[in-house]
Amino acid sequence: MRAARALVPIAAILAAGVVYAACSAGGPSAQKGDASLSPAAQREIAQVEAEIDRIEASTLQRVAAPPDNQVQQVELLGKLLLYDKQLSVNRNEACTLCHMPETGFTGPVSELNRTTGSYPGSVRTRFSNRKPQTHSYAPLAPVLHFNRAQGDMVGGNFWDMRATGRRLGNPAAEQAQGPPTNPVEMGLPDSACAVYRASQRPYRGMFETVWGKQAFAIAWPRNVDQVCNTPGPPTAADPLPVHLSPLDRGRAAATFDQMAQSIAGYEASAEVTPFSSKYDAVQGGKAKFTAQEQAGYALFRGKARCNECHRDGGPGEEPMFTDFTASNIGTPANPRLPYYAENRPDAQGYAANPAGRSYVDGGVGVFLAGGAVLSRPSAVDARWAGQAAGNMGRVRVPTLRNVDKRPYPAFVKAYGHNGYFTSLKAIVHYYNTRDALPRCKANDPGEGKTCWPAPETTQNMNTSKMGRLGLTDAEEDAIVAFMKTLSDGFTPVG
Ligand code: HEC
Ligand code: HEC
Repeated sequence: MRAARALVPIAAILAAGVVYAACSAGGPSAQKGDASLSPAAQREIAQVEAEIDRIEASTLQRVAAPPDNQVQQVELLGKLLLYDKQLSVNRNEACTLCHMPETGFTGPVSELNRTTGSYPGSVRTRFSNRKPQTHSYAPLAPVLHFNRAQGDMVGGNFWDMRATGRRLGNPAAEQAQGPPTNPVEMGLPDSACAVYRASQRPYRGMFETVWGKQAFAIAWPRNVDQVCNTPGPPTAADPLPVHLSPLDRGRAAATFDQMAQSIAGYEASAEVTPFSSKYDAVQGGKAKFTAQEQAGYALFRGKARCNECHRDGGPGEEPMFTDFTASNIGTPANPRLPYYAENRPDAQGYAANPAGRSYVDGGVGVFLAGGAVLSRPSAVDARWAGQAAGNMGRVRVPTLRNVDKRPYPAFVKAYGHNGYFTSLKAIVHYYNTRDALPRCKANDPGEGKTCWPAPETTQNMNTSKMGRLGLTDAEEDAIVAFMKTLSDGFTPVG
């Protein structure tokens, strides 16, 4: 929703935009950094990987007798791709390492959520700059557009809306083309590598049934394995290191589109996007809120103003708990992000974050200004450059569906684009008291209770709808109780 727009000087846009681009600087030695994984995190990651392997194996069994319905075939393919570790450079990371069902399709490693906030890539020393969003409900985001009457950019996927959906007609499909070649995620040096790896998988035949025999009819160069086993990014001199004929390049690109569309098809399916929460059951007259949940819902829509951005629908609108616009709520920086230390070339010579400690996430504004980003699955529309200043520091309003879904009560989830918050109570307390409590001092024991750190950026920060809500402790708890009704998989009693 709209915040009062502060004017941002053009210099600030440029400064934010070049954060990733000024890449050549950096020390000569590969840095170990503080990004190495703790034993506790390694143990949990191993468990999640075993679960991913189990799901992939059992899903592959369905390929032998596939559904005869084409939409169901697409969904099955999408699931196989999402759980496929072979699509990452070191064959160790599926999409789902960062998006598992038991957490509502976001990060499944409690220890990482509690500590680093972000997740390691296929190259395990490289961490992303942001917390994984949920990928359920993502295909229902509108294609990114400018709403002139509201003065708002609306839609897209990613915190910064940069998967626009304008080329494939679906933001989530374009989103799925980001991670495979993102150097801090699945790390392939060329999108053709994802196609090559898929061509070697047992689901190849089903892919050809759905999308056509041409899909993998590609003459791969002899060195394709070696090229695809080398972590990206590619060099500027050879940006597409899998050397293909123009025709084969076109086929590989079309097949990559179809892989992405299959993934988005699965994400939109009833398995991932089911509208099966207690909230939905209550709306359908099949369940009743407790008194506390009901009070929380009333506050959510009233005094606490949450509904002005996390919309529960309206005439002709589904309750998505986001209005798909962008805001800056003033979330503090998360100093635990290993990304801040990724300022020196690693063993492969790559530095994800040359700005180091001074990195500030400029969100939607950086994308609109054409600034450097870690992956760019959708082209920037230069006609939107004028919207960049007003969107600096803003990120897309996340859906609150499944925001509390977790495998067991002590499991920690991270919230906000940088994972600064680690409980729903904390973020509600923040909305309530951001502007009412003093700034924390260094190592202040009251952080999160009696004081708050400075926002990561105050650019375009929303000051009209939050910060001093005057909620009591019990009212904060009621809002948390309401948000817990948004977890899918609720079974009405009786
Ligand atoms: C290493 C962790 C990681 C991996 C692997 C990963 N993601 Fe994500 N995912 C993230 C992060 C972090 C974000 C937010 C990134 C941003 O905003 O720049 C995200 C965002 C998304 C979103 C956007 C949701 C929305 O509402 O806008 C979707 C959809 C998604 N991921 C699906 C996928 C798919 C499909 C794959 C595999 C092709 C994948 N992810 C692989 C971490 C990961
Ligand atoms: C002006 C729009 C706006 C209002 C009003 C608002 N939010 Fe948010 N909310 C956002 C944005 C934007 C984010 C992402 C913030 C970030 O990443 O820094 C967010 C993030 C969240 C998250 C974290 C979700 C996740 O997956 O990381 C929760 C929970 C949340 N809001 C709950 C609430 C509640 C409860 C209220 C009312 C007390 C509220 N919001 C009011 C815009 C808003």
